[in-house]
Amino acid sequence: MKDIEVPWVIQEHTKVKHELLKQYISPWMNILFRTQKKFRYPQVLIYIDGFSGPGIYYTDEKRDSLCNGSPLIVAEIANTYIEQDKSRKILMYCIDIEKKCTDILKERLKKSNQYDQKWEVYEADFERKIFEIISDIEGKKLVGAPMFIFIDPIGYSGYQIGILKDLLSNPRTELFINFMIYDIVRFCETKQFESLLTKQFGDEEYKKIDTTSNPETKQLYLKNLYCQNLRKYANAEYVMPFRVNTPDQGQRPRYYLIHVSKNIKALKVMKNSMSKISQADYSFEAIGINTLQMSLFNDPEKISIEEKLKEYCRSAFPKPLEYTHIEDWAYVNTNGVAKTIKDSLKILEEKGIIEIRRKKGQRANTVTDGALIRFSKDYIHE
Ligand SMILES: C[S@@+](CC[C@H](N)C(=O)[O-])C[C@H]1O[C@@H](n2cnc3c(N)ncnc32)[C@H](O)[C@@H]1O
Repeated sequence: MKDIEVPWVIQEHTKVKHELLKQYISPWMNILFRTQKKFRYPQVLIYIDGFSGPGIYYTDEKRDSLCNGSPLIVAEIANTYIEQDKSRKILMYCIDIEKKCTDILKERLKKSNQYDQKWEVYEADFERKIFEIISDIEGKKLVGAPMFIFIDPIGYSGYQIGILKDLLSNPRTELFINFMIYDIVRFCETKQFESLLTKQFGDEEYKKIDTTSNPETKQLYLKNLYCQNLRKYANAEYVMPFRVNTPDQGQRPRYYLIHVSKNIKALKVMKNSMSKISQADYSFEAIGINTLQMSLFNDPEKISIEEKLKEYCRSAFPKPLEYTHIEDWAYVNTNGVAKTIKDSLKILEEKGIIEIRRKKGQRANTVTDGALIRFSKDYIHE
């Protein structure tokens, strides 16, 4: 990056990424601060930007106006929450390997730091620095504090997938990973990138890609493999890739943003936030991954949420399932959120495929906690 001008001009797909980050980080802070307050815990959150960049971009080629990058977007939102309650603390650690980036970011972040928070910027390699930061957090006795780590490298990542396991050892940690699928497909058959990709994927399975297949199939295979390996090597429990469709790329996204956590509530908040975003030109799609039966060549998007729910209820027959259990399952395994999950169940009920036994007082046009759902025996062989 030595010759690259810093800051650089923002690209369309980066704007989308920032919109997603904004949409999530605000409810993340809001919900966690409120919960900490309710249980009389200290209100402390930690944000780590592992590949922070300079914190600013030129808005266009004229290079006469600027917009914020990820660390400053988060800083602005953090200020609004601290302003509401001055006892709140948000620790922010930013890492970038480029001095040109960290010099700019240090200055900008200092100016943004209205409430004298611990906001640090390090010129360092992510993989080397992250554990020093974690020890610093441990030294401050903040081991269990909720932590959000944004991992946004350029192209291939260059760090071992296994380090994510240590980061996820705090069950309140969430990772938001930019998985640059477009570049990874370009690099994956090149000898030069072999060791980097082996680090990123954790093994050499990625080499089993069908080199004669079309780019869409290659993307599908590598995305599914990476999600599988996040479970295998990072001990992740919930892995939710969001495909970011940009107008110029057709059905072949440039990247997926992958939310990784050990907490179903975190996954639910993330999906709910993402489902609220709708812009004409972009779509953010949660790709439900069927953790049990999926082959790496299957496209989970090809099966509708209604179909997946039907099969899940059928698999439990004759046992009824509680609505909350089905909702948790569907958040993980389909692209649905509460509203679409409920709507699909009501359609299945109308078709007579499932029976919904509601609790006393629950209205017939709702499906909610406590309702029992059973597959209909009339459809068991269809
Ligand atoms: C895509 S940019 C980050 C953009 C930023 N997250 C944002 O959204 O505004 C990626 C950054 O990673 C930095 N980088 C590349 N390799 C790195 C490494 N090994 N460790 C830390 N930073 C690195 C680059 O200098 C670059 O600024």
